[in-house]
Amino acid sequence: MKKLLLCFSAIAVIACNKTATSSPSTPASPVQSNPKVQLFDAEIDGKVSALVSKMSLEEKVGQMTQLTLDAITTGDSPYSSASPYALDPKKVAHAIEKYKIGSVLNTPGHPLSRKEWFETITTLQEAAAKTPNKIPLIYGIDAIHGVNYTTESTLFPQQLGVASTFNKQHAYESGVVSAYETRASAIPWTFSPVLGLGRSPIWPRLWETFGEDVHIGETMGAAMIKGFQGDGGLNSVAACMKHYLGYSVPLSGKDRTGAWIPERELRQYFVPAFKAAIDAGALTLMINSGDINGTPVHASKFMLTDLLRGELGFEGFAVTDWNDINYLYTKYKIVKTKKEAIKVSINAGVDMSMVPHQLEFVDLLIELVNEGEVKMSRIDEAVSRILKVKYKLGLFDKPVTDPKDYPDFGSEKFAAKSKAAALETFVLLKNKKNLLPLKKETKILVTGASANTMRSLNGGWSYNWQGSEADKYAADKNTVAEAFMKNGNAKFVQGVTFDGTGDNIAKSVAAARNSDVVLLCLGETSYTETPGNTHSLLMPNKHVELAKELAKTGKKIILVLLEGRPVIFNEIEPLVDAVFVGFLPGNYGADALSDLVYGVANPSGKLPVNYPKHPHSFVNYNYKISDNLQLPNYYSSDYDQQYEFGDGLSYTTFAYSDLKLDTKEMTQDGKINVSVTVTNTGKMAGKEAVLLYISDLYATITPEIKALKAYDKITLAPGASKTVKFVINKKSLSFVNANLKTVAEPGEFTATVGLLSENFILK
Ligand code: BGC
Repeated sequence: MKKLLLCFSAIAVIACNKTATSSPSTPASPVQSNPKVQLFDAEIDGKVSALVSKMSLEEKVGQMTQLTLDAITTGDSPYSSASPYALDPKKVAHAIEKYKIGSVLNTPGHPLSRKEWFETITTLQEAAAKTPNKIPLIYGIDAIHGVNYTTESTLFPQQLGVASTFNKQHAYESGVVSAYETRASAIPWTFSPVLGLGRSPIWPRLWETFGEDVHIGETMGAAMIKGFQGDGGLNSVAACMKHYLGYSVPLSGKDRTGAWIPERELRQYFVPAFKAAIDAGALTLMINSGDINGTPVHASKFMLTDLLRGELGFEGFAVTDWNDINYLYTKYKIVKTKKEAIKVSINAGVDMSMVPHQLEFVDLLIELVNEGEVKMSRIDEAVSRILKVKYKLGLFDKPVTDPKDYPDFGSEKFAAKSKAAALETFVLLKNKKNLLPLKKETKILVTGASANTMRSLNGGWSYNWQGSEADKYAADKNTVAEAFMKNGNAKFVQGVTFDGTGDNIAKSVAAARNSDVVLLCLGETSYTETPGNTHSLLMPNKHVELAKELAKTGKKIILVLLEGRPVIFNEIEPLVDAVFVGFLPGNYGADALSDLVYGVANPSGKLPVNYPKHPHSFVNYNYKISDNLQLPNYYSSDYDQQYEFGDGLSYTTFAYSDLKLDTKEMTQDGKINVSVTVTNTGKMAGKEAVLLYISDLYATITPEIKALKAYDKITLAPGASKTVKFVINKKSLSFVNANLKTVAEPGEFTATVGLLSENFILK
């Protein structure tokens, strides 16, 4: 039912001394930046050019066409499927056999079982086998935190939650499990990961990003892509990096509205994650639905061809986002007709159109080629790219994978990986007088809008587009209330809801009086895209009122914010004793939270975004000096955040010592080896994300106060130490200058880890 509404860096290495506990048992390779992967070998190139030479224009243009599933199911409209869901044989034959379309996407508005997916895709591939060259379809799905449109699948934390772990291994594992379970659903292609930078806290897709930092975007994105794609084979899927380029910072904060991004900023902040993903071997790319500086990206030859192909060297194929060629004339008004829109976008570099409902695209593109408005060479280029990916995925040999070959689907083993990630997703931001962890016998009242729903744990793209059916499909998983009632001495009272229907503050307050501690769960319900647009990030009045009334009881309050973007709660922050933020930790999020609250596990998440304190004061962590000038009454600006990027507490304490740079002078092609010792000085084993920031002290482009250039996550037993090593190289010191060149300007820099810092010179 979706969218009826819309019609190298510094490398971290851990060296353990004798006192160290073992580091996470992970292959090192998936998470390190590598030289560019070669996407297609000579054999695939040869097969594709032979095939393309045999194809008719109709077949080629069909390959470039992607329909949504609703367009070929029973029901009166192409916009939604009838219930119960069934493919319509006539529509299937029309789209696939007659129009020879190359791709289908999406669900019929609800998740399908593996059996239903297998049957659906088998039928579609059987139709494709009747086309002249028997070219298999490529089915695509938004498997963005596990294969979230298949029932009983393993759902992981969403990307912002994964970023909060500061542990690349979780991004990788989420990709591996998701790929396996997607193939178990007979699907070979996922529209993930999102590589836009989450630098606008109000944007309703912030949680789909890896947060606001360039280096995290580069490294987590590449790790997830390696997880999805592995070394190929039938346990892997094609990744789709999206949304290229600059989608995440609309000026208004509302989804799919205009952005202003000067080319210098575009190159410095938005290109690197895509560059790293391309180098990691990403096979496909989805285009940004928005317009930047007045040019819709779907019409930008500069972005889609010159930059993407010429400079970044991308060899896979580029698919539009939903209906976006049509939007060039209906919404953006840069052309008058559908036909002109198709011409502009295909000539700009679009390879496949997510049409997604009508087949007119095919007819009009054929006309354009026959009229000489789109060159046959452009069509051949697009089709070749699509076919290469189909070969690479093994679709010609095995167009449908069988769920029976995937016995680990939905297994305990996969659930454990998701929970391990969820444990590191939660960020403990306040723990007054070490209230936490609690004893099991503590009498807890669990209350609040997010306390008893799977929606606030999973977010959008969970079972359906808006995640609105999560309570039905994840009924066997624990909400926060359920986890605490199972694991401890807890009682649940709703208190407030997200839609205001079930509010009863008095009941919650009465129950609080009979408890020792209140676990107040607030935040957001699930949403994505334009339905998630909001005018304000301020916490709703009723939620604030509940917190204030609870505070009057004198009971200690642990605030748990389950949310996709930072809900501003400055009014109640002083009233609460502890704060946990969980950016959509997934189906095992509540179990993880209970382990953290009871001290079965130790919190280790850190914020991947700044957490704003004021509704009109959004500043990213790598602000400019002028954003935070403390000169009273004179040019002063006030950078006042509730919490900062990188904040996050533990139940133990970590001491940083011996920050060492092996040289204090670096040449342009040289490097500096950095080491720092971290010691667990507390009583509990814990994990610590160690972050290296660099500050350029003077530069021709006003320098950022600091920028993250490397990070690693280590595990330390009480009393143990580890030496963490980083490498600073030219890339760590580079920025894009006024002439759009990436440079590292000679001068003085500071390297900071924890509270330690050392200066050095670049010559
Ligand atoms: C979203 C994409 C998604 C696509 C297919 C679009 O509306 O912007 O992120 O992959 O739909 O569902």
